[in-house]
This record gives sequence, C-alpha cells and structure tokens, in this order.
Amino acid sequence: MALTVFGSINLDLVVDVPRLPQRGETAVGPAYRLLAGGKGANQATAAVRAGAEVRFVGAVGSDAFADPALQHMRDGGVDLRPVRQLEGKTGVAFIGVETSGENQILVASGANAHVQAQWLEADLAPGDLLLLQGELRPEETAGAIELAVERGCPVVWNPAPVPAGDLAPLVAKTDVLIVNESEADELAERLGLPSSPEAFIDQLSAKGALVIVTLGANGILAGQGGVRYRLLPPPIEVVDTTGAGDAFCGAYCAARLRDLPTERALREAIAAGSLACTAQGAQTSAPDAATIQAMADRVFSEK
Ligand code: RIB
Ligand code: NA
Repeated sequence: MALTVFGSINLDLVVDVPRLPQRGETAVGPAYRLLAGGKGANQATAAVRAGAEVRFVGAVGSDAFADPALQHMRDGGVDLRPVRQLEGKTGVAFIGVETSGENQILVASGANAHVQAQWLEADLAPGDLLLLQGELRPEETAGAIELAVERGCPVVWNPAPVPAGDLAPLVAKTDVLIVNESEADELAERLGLPSSPEAFIDQLSAKGALVIVTLGANGILAGQGGVRYRLLPPPIEVVDTTGAGDAFCGAYCAARLRDLPTERALREAIAAGSLACTAQGAQTSAPDAATIQAMADRVFSEK
C-alpha cells in the first residue's frame, strides 16, 4: 500500500525576525532563506523520510522556483511523475519566524490554484491512503475526497487552512481528521459543534473516524469511537515550528501504512512533529524513521 498526497507545493521565503509584526507594522531580519515548502510537499517529504512509499499529485509553475520547490521530495524518493508543470508561477509562501520559533505565513497559490481532482484518476490505486490539506481549491479537494471514497481509499484530511464551502460532507467522508486548535475552533463554529476540544472530538469521532486535535507543545488530544488519547511530547528546544503539523501528518500516514495500533501511530506522529520544531525550515527539519521511533518511546500518555 502506498500514500498518495494531493496537495500544494510552494517555495518558502523565510525571514528570521526578533518578533513577528503586528498589523501595519514592519519587522526587520538580517537575511532570507529559500526553502522547499507547501503543506502538501512538506507532508509528502515527512512521510517518505518516515519510511512510506509516497506519490504526489500537484503542480509547479514554469519559473525558476519550480525545481528547488521539488528538491526534498525528489531527494527523498517521492514519486513525482504525476506532478504537472504549468505555465506561470510556482506557489510561494512568505514566512516570518520569530525567536520563539512561532511563525506567520502568507501564501501566493500560483500553480496550486490550477490543480484538478481529475488528475488523481490515473494515480489513486484502490487501497491507497489519500492525504490532503487545505491549500488547493476547495472544489478540487472535495472532488479528490469523492474519488477516494469511490475507490475505497481511506482519507486523511488536514484542513489547513480550513477551506471555504460546505464542510459537512467532506468531514463525513474523512477517516482521519487532523486539525490544530484554531482549525478545530473554526470547524466547530462552521459545523455547529461544541468548541471544547474533548466534546468536539467525541461528536465528530462517534461514527468511527479518528479525530486528532494538535495542541503544540501540549501534544495532542484524539478520539475514535469512544476511545480517547491524550499524549504529550518530551520537552524539546524549539527553533522553528514551521512544518511541525506537516511532519505530524506525514509521519502519521507512514505509521498507518505499517498497520501500527492507533496509539503507537499517534506517538510516532507526535515525535515527528516535535523533532520538526528543533531545526529550521519545514522539509529540512523532517526526521527519519529511526529518530522518530526513538523519540516515540518517550512520548507520555495521560489516560
Ligand atoms: O505548514 C507550513 C507550510 O505552510 C509552509 O511550508 C508554507 O509553504 C505554507 O504552505
Ligand atoms: Na521546523
């Protein structure tokens, strides 16, 4: 079984600043870095580093950013044959990272805005796991989820950012939903669900889906069919949180493809997310399988 990622590819322009700017403010840093990014590409890179067989369906532009944006996926061995090169610009993210490791991100979609769900038809094999985010056009994300259901492919969805449109049918078809606190709040509001993470998880997971709310340094809360998980990462030194959620999603999928029990898969995902905070960049910081497994043993379970 393989993982198919249907998602975004960006080139990240990253500036380190002492403090992120407020609205209308300017923040100044010494230099900028150009790094491969995009939530889809970050998650694919994280999954391949964690040991999964990964295929990517998405698009880059025809500019000079296309090649560096694909670099880590290519080096890691992600199957990039379904990635199309379109006229125009590659997606770009403008990222500020402050000394605390927190970030702020603006995205210009470029080629990502032209990715189509129908491209998946040739590449989504029955039984594959499909992983999606929220950086493509909402109707294409919806179309991809639809196709996965038709083909009997489990859907792992990280709606980041939460897309416009009717979310209920998409959430209903999702097998594993992964959100951070602010995404959980937005989903709760738009779906008319309780806003406390526990109640949100209990309601959404009642029909069997695994629902995961990531809480940054406080680990995760998750639930599935009445079973709750509360897991905490060991303390780490935070350098740059960019890509932490993506590492979590990619490593979770890699663990799930190995048929690990849910708690162990969640431990590995938390380990990967934490490790991704200890180094700069999104994909540069995605850990390998051995490092993830060693750290996963030290994840703490609060029952
Ligand atoms: O999740 C981090 C990612 O969000 C960055 O790599 C950036 O490209 C944006 O898509
Ligand atoms: Na990072």
